[in-house]
Amino acid sequence: METIKGFKDDFLWGGATAANQIEGAFDEDGKGLSAADFVEYIPKEQRTKDNHMEVTSDVIKKALAGEYSGRFPKREGIDFYHTYKEDIKLFAEMGFTAFRLSIHWSRIFPNGYDAEPNEAGLKHYDEVFKELRKYNIEPVVTLSHYETPYGLIEKYNGWVGRECIEHFVTYAETVFNRYKGQVKYWITFNEINIINISPFTGGGVLSDLEENPEEAAYQALHHQFVASSLATKKLKEIDPEAQMGCMLARMLSYPNTCHPEDVRKAQVDNQLNLMYTDVHARGEYPNFFKRHLAENNITIQMEDGDLAVLKQYPVDYISFSYYMTLLSSAAPEGEVTAGNLMNSLKNPYLESSDWGWQIDPLGLRTLLNDMWDRYQKPLFIVENGLGAYDKVEEGRIHDSYRIDYLKRHIEQMKEAVKDGVDLMGYLAWGPIDLVSMSTSEMSKRYGFIYVDKDDDGRGTGERIRKDSFDWYKEVIATNGENL
Ligand code: BG6
Repeated sequence: METIKGFKDDFLWGGATAANQIEGAFDEDGKGLSAADFVEYIPKEQRTKDNHMEVTSDVIKKALAGEYSGRFPKREGIDFYHTYKEDIKLFAEMGFTAFRLSIHWSRIFPNGYDAEPNEAGLKHYDEVFKELRKYNIEPVVTLSHYETPYGLIEKYNGWVGRECIEHFVTYAETVFNRYKGQVKYWITFNEINIINISPFTGGGVLSDLEENPEEAAYQALHHQFVASSLATKKLKEIDPEAQMGCMLARMLSYPNTCHPEDVRKAQVDNQLNLMYTDVHARGEYPNFFKRHLAENNITIQMEDGDLAVLKQYPVDYISFSYYMTLLSSAAPEGEVTAGNLMNSLKNPYLESSDWGWQIDPLGLRTLLNDMWDRYQKPLFIVENGLGAYDKVEEGRIHDSYRIDYLKRHIEQMKEAVKDGVDLMGYLAWGPIDLVSMSTSEMSKRYGFIYVDKDDDGRGTGERIRKDSFDWYKEVIATNGENL
């Protein structure tokens, strides 16, 4: 019997980014403001809450009136809007075959609801895609990566408003028509589950304006699900060769002990995390989720036809981010550590990053197998990586810790492929240092390419290849054989 030996020949290797974390130029060429433009940087010593992306209406009011003293680093990014040619050249030097980016929605429709798209915004992405094509790099494009246009926030409190569905579909249709034949892989919403953790980030929902913030977030989620399916429908009509994916922040939970109550708690936590991909891939809300809503007195308003649309237009592939695993306990007690927007009990068998995220390469193999068994649809890892402090020593960055992290994850990914998982590709998060999503820091670096810029926005912006640059180049050149 033949067994699978390794990655397929057309496996996609590269890196992933988001417009709001790299582009800068937040008000150039007709771009409107978006949610990310209001997320401020707070120095570590002054942080008093876990979730700094949850902006309040007061911050927005003051920022718009010019009365806010804080800095908004996502407005500056790493200036990719102007440096994309030299940056893409560096990606090409590493041998990237794919590069994930998002279109900043408010570059195309500055308020989100405008009657006509902004030609300058469309033209910009024409150029970016052209540059990628020059090096045979496949763009993987996210339509919405925490970038709800401010106009929609002001008018409808973001995705709580059903009107967002129509505006999103118009935006999707516009870019599908424009970039037809140039973009093969699309993703509707980045980490769609974030809407229930940080509603402002995920959907421009200002929770302080909602009487029942939890219910509002679920309502916004439903609108995103419907919008995603309708966008998939449009894509199939406009560019049948292209593929649509969904995107989940996959948070695998282990039982804290073998006590049946902990095992059951982990099962529930995993179900509630996978519910999002269940809807996208199978086209219906699972019953455990309906029960969860009912038991928590949450009602989602739906219109006739919504459920039929979900069923009719599921995604072609499932993409996800993977950074760490969590522990589930029916009676949580003990040391807690941070994670990607979710805190967790500390797992004594795992090391953590400088930000407390628990490093678990084997968890990647486990969840790849689980997700393949559950969905039997191609999977795509579109984010994974280590946020770490880097030191420049005589012009070099010796980031052996990053190489070690990535190597161990890719090894497990290879094992999963040998187990039979249909995996499309691997995109490392932040191939070039960028502004952190959760803390708006520059010093939390993920890149193979160092960017000379600090947390206060100072620096030359110079790009320097780290040791991991040469390492990743070899990994790609050998299709994952030399790690
Ligand atoms: C993912 C997001 O959750 O994690 C990215 O999709 C983000 O936007 C990444 O940057 C890493 O998180 P952070 O907070 O370290 O930037």
